[in-house]
Amino acid sequence: MKQCYLYIIILPLLLLSCKSHFETTTERFTAVKKEQSFEHGKNLVFNICGQCHYNKDAQSFIGEEIKDLPHFMGRIYSANLTNSTRYGIARYTDAEIYYLLKTGIAKDGRYVPYMIRPTMADADINDIIVYLRSGDDPVKANDKVVGQSHLSFIGKLATKISGKPQPLIKNIKRPSPEDQVAYGRYLVDIVGCYHCHSKSILGLKYTEPEASKGYMAGGMKWKIDGYQIRASNLTPDKETGIGNYTKVQFRKAVRDGEAPGNRMLHFPMRRFEHMDDKQVDAIYAYLNTLTPVNHKIKGR
Ligand code: HEC
Ligand code: HEC
Repeated sequence: MKQCYLYIIILPLLLLSCKSHFETTTERFTAVKKEQSFEHGKNLVFNICGQCHYNKDAQSFIGEEIKDLPHFMGRIYSANLTNSTRYGIARYTDAEIYYLLKTGIAKDGRYVPYMIRPTMADADINDIIVYLRSGDDPVKANDKVVGQSHLSFIGKLATKISGKPQPLIKNIKRPSPEDQVAYGRYLVDIVGCYHCHSKSILGLKYTEPEASKGYMAGGMKWKIDGYQIRASNLTPDKETGIGNYTKVQFRKAVRDGEAPGNRMLHFPMRRFEHMDDKQVDAIYAYLNTLTPVNHKIKGR
């Protein structure tokens, strides 16, 4: 009981002492349209940003309610990424998008923890921006707003304790798709597979994903609309991981959400419909180089 009182006193103090406004960027980053920028950017925007910002009903990047955060955190909606000058990405400069994706610091200095990718290659951020500004149907200006995020007190506390802005690491090169294992490792990083398929959110290491706690060995837990679910072990262990997956089975699981034995995979696992063979196969090849971890996922 005593402990409980202690928390009631300490938690608000902790919250007050946490910084809530950070330096915004002075970077000069200007996206340049090159030959493959549009196609490549579209692929990345659908595979990465689409997990949270694509609204299937509207077929547009107007945003969505984020359902894989615990309810006690409050209600969270992703932002409008269309070219809307009122609500969308048009209010952001290229440098502000670059800085947000790398560090997690929004243009108003708020720390936004959902899309940090400090190790994303500059060329990929370039292409993402080119696509977002392209006027293609899914990102064409749309003034709709799906909802206003509202973090509860505990939600605010949790985001502050669980993370902080990441250092700005510049000039990261993207690996060649021909170097299959390196490309696969990079995709697991920037698409964010490891954000879910490791041990816990608190154990993630954004600047060095492979150093995350329980990296790719699964176990992270969610409670969603009444069901509980844990992320699968994706190390090549034959008994508890994906050691028996063929390449074709792996493609089906990642793109269509269907695991061997007609097992349909539940949300928050996404359907990565926009991943091409080269990308899924690279991830498969990379995962098979990991040390098999015998970690049985219980409770689902
Ligand atoms: C895991 C989910 C997730 C992914 C993946 C994601 N976002 Fe977000 N994003 C969010 C959420 C949630 C918010 C709203 C944060 C808030 O309201 O505090 C947001 C907000 C934003 C904002 C507005 C920030 C502001 O100033 O309020 C921008 C711009 C943005 N995202 C861009 C992107 C881009 C570009 C990508 C892909 C490279 C991406 N996001 C991927 C969840 C995500
Ligand atoms: C938002 C969280 C999240 C992200 C991001 C995510 N996954 Fe998953 N994934 C899950 C969960 C949860 C399950 C378990 C689903 C179930 O048991 O029904 C799962 C299951 C799987 C399975 C099935 C394994 C098995 O046999 O149980 C594969 C394969 C998989 N994910 C691959 C990937 C890959 C590759 C990526 C990145 C491209 C990825 N996942 C990104 C949450 C996620």
